[in-house]
Amino acid sequence: MNQLTVKAYAKINLFLDIKNLREDGYHNLEMVMQSISLHDTITLYKKDNGIKIETNHSKLTNGEENLAYKAAQAVINRTKLAQGIKIFIDKKIPIAAGLAGGSTDAAAVINGMNKLYDLNLGEKEIHNIAFEIGSDVPFCLKGGTAFATKRGEKLRYLRPLKKHKVLLVKPPEMVSTKKVYNLYDEYNISKDIPVKKLLDIINNNKELNIEDGWANVLELITKRLVPDVKIIKDKLLDQGFKFTMMTGSGPTVFSLLDKKDIDLAYNVINNWPRTDDFITLTETKNFN
Ligand code: C5P
Repeated sequence: MNQLTVKAYAKINLFLDIKNLREDGYHNLEMVMQSISLHDTITLYKKDNGIKIETNHSKLTNGEENLAYKAAQAVINRTKLAQGIKIFIDKKIPIAAGLAGGSTDAAAVINGMNKLYDLNLGEKEIHNIAFEIGSDVPFCLKGGTAFATKRGEKLRYLRPLKKHKVLLVKPPEMVSTKKVYNLYDEYNISKDIPVKKLLDIINNNKELNIEDGWANVLELITKRLVPDVKIIKDKLLDQGFKFTMMTGSGPTVFSLLDKKDIDLAYNVINNWPRTDDFITLTETKNFN
């Protein structure tokens, strides 16, 4: 086998609460993460030496800052691999959007190189390499529905969420995750929202209910940086899509749809007035 193609799925957050600022500058979090069908496609090619990234996306860096590059470098260092890798990223997930686009590419590179080069990396080793690259990368290794704590790397897999269509809308602005977290600290807002109800609903396969624990404490912050987040959210709520929230540090807003909402969602997409937004219909994705 000289090459391998893998899918790298995006995620949304059904819940994101910050518990506290840690001494290392990161935050302890509580998050409910959910994979969605929207994905990048990564093709890995064996190469004699070095790391080369190619992509079809003009705004994506192909240098060392790309998380896929970092992931490849970490795998090579950890396993003392004598060969290199060429990585082609067919980018479909919007960049800097709160959808873990970079993290999922990195996870796909780690899993993919392990397979392509028969590296025999165990689950724990793979997890450690992933966490070295970023807080969301460990979740992206497997995906599905999970409760993530600590920096986001401690994962408890939940009962797969019932399939829902998901409408995604991203305004053109990009936000820096670091800036959003820093501003959160400055504003010094602490809400301490209980996640227990939502976990109970998911684990017992009950109907989702907007009152029960849906929250993203970063939404308030990103709305100040990117007023479009509020404009988009209000537009989606006006359509009657009540499960509407920002994902991660944003600025993507998603609506989790009921069956009865789907025709309307297509109508909303076809008539969306803000032509610079990325808007698409996808669905929740589970793997077991
Ligand atoms: O881990 P990652 O590099 O993806 O994090 C990006 C930024 O998000 C960090 O530099 C930090 O500012 C913030 N972050 C945080 N606490 C976390 C995860 C991310 O403060 N648990």
